[in-house]
Amino acid sequence: MKGQKWSPLALALLVLTGCTYDNLQTLGDPRDCDTFEVSYGMDILPLVSDHCQGCHSGAAPSAGIGFEGHAEIASNAENMLDRMGRAPDDNLLMPQSGKLDSCSIALFSAWINAGKPNN
Ligand code: HEC
Repeated sequence: MKGQKWSPLALALLVLTGCTYDNLQTLGDPRDCDTFEVSYGMDILPLVSDHCQGCHSGAAPSAGIGFEGHAEIASNAENMLDRMGRAPDDNLLMPQSGKLDSCSIALFSAWINAGKPNN
């Protein structure tokens, strides 16, 4: 390896292909990581339901904020994405049990960028 440095391009390619490989490996349905066709009903709500609503729903939601329907999720989306994207050792990371996989965070981000459609 002496004298053979990784070029930034090679590193970028490694990261990119590594990411794609990861997603295809962990998720049976490749559609799940298709950020071009992100769907509130098929991607966003299940994600929030599985990982957030355990605490952020009901009569006494954590932090006084529920993420139960499209309106609530849409109005809190930037804040939610900020918490999902925190470093693993950050006390503000959500969910508190551990960082979501990168595909879930990418989907959430793409949904915001698409204008938070109720689709
Ligand atoms: C185990 C319970 C639990 C789960 C699961 C959980 N949260 Fe939280 N959440 C909390 C608690 C407790 C607070 C208040 C403490 C804090 O702000 O860190 C909080 C605070 C927040 C806040 C700050 C609200 C504000 O503006 O004051 C956001 C945003 C948030 N959570 C998003 C999420 C998202 C997004 C998920 C799912 C990916 C999630 N949380 C999952 C317990 C939880």
